[in-house]
Amino acid sequence: MQDKKTQVKQMFDAIAYRYDFLNHFLSAGVDVYWRKKALSLTKLNKDAVLLDVACGTGDFAIEAKKNGVQKIFGADFSYNMLQLFNKKSDWIVGRNLQMEAEKLPLKPATVTNITVAFGVRNFYNIPESFASFYSALKENGKVTILEFMMPTNPLIKILYRLYFKFILPVIGRLVSKDKKAYTYLPDSVEEFDKSIDLVKLFSGAGFKKVERYDLTFGLVQVVIAEK
Ligand SMILES: C[S@@+](CC[C@H](N)C(=O)[O-])C[C@H]1O[C@@H](n2cnc3c(N)ncnc32)[C@H](O)[C@@H]1O
Repeated sequence: MQDKKTQVKQMFDAIAYRYDFLNHFLSAGVDVYWRKKALSLTKLNKDAVLLDVACGTGDFAIEAKKNGVQKIFGADFSYNMLQLFNKKSDWIVGRNLQMEAEKLPLKPATVTNITVAFGVRNFYNIPESFASFYSALKENGKVTILEFMMPTNPLIKILYRLYFKFILPVIGRLVSKDKKAYTYLPDSVEEFDKSIDLVKLFSGAGFKKVERYDLTFGLVQVVIAEK
């Protein structure tokens, strides 16, 4: 059995070329709205220095760019996902970097904002990554997390399970040709929801203010933590 780090990295390297299509198709485009909403809740400043961690093919960073932020760079440990982002991002300051969320090789207090969309659930050590974020952020800097959660409304929960367990894995497998990736998604959301409290983890890492918002019948959460 591989460790989580190797397993997740190999999975994203394998599905990278189908990722954007599947993302928008399987969420019927709602993922675009979620990223926009998360950034508007963050109240991004145009002077921000933003590091998009687990940037993948870059959709969260690209949304931040549309908000007028100029200084943006992305970080991800999947080489193939980063390569796709590099193709879309000749405007990036410096370059997107291959690195782990848990071990950001940045000098202390170098960025004002860190964003993570649909990435934190995959981290192999969340407390370590939050400590790394805390160090990289300037005083009053913010982390914005966008992540799936299990809805609490019983009817929505049934519909969610039907879709995530039966429809999404079939389409995901056919298009990505990866047997595991789209069964990993629902399993990881349920496991994450049961065991991880992001607000508590941020407070434990020293963040002074943490806010949490539920979107779209509690399908996703936005957590904003301020240093
Ligand atoms: C579901 S994709 C999200 C991509 C993008 N943020 C988006 O909104 O579409 C998750 C990404 O997290 C990256 N990832 C997972 N664990 C990581 C870690 N520990 N360090 C860096 N990147 C990681 C994966 O390689 C993958 O590109």
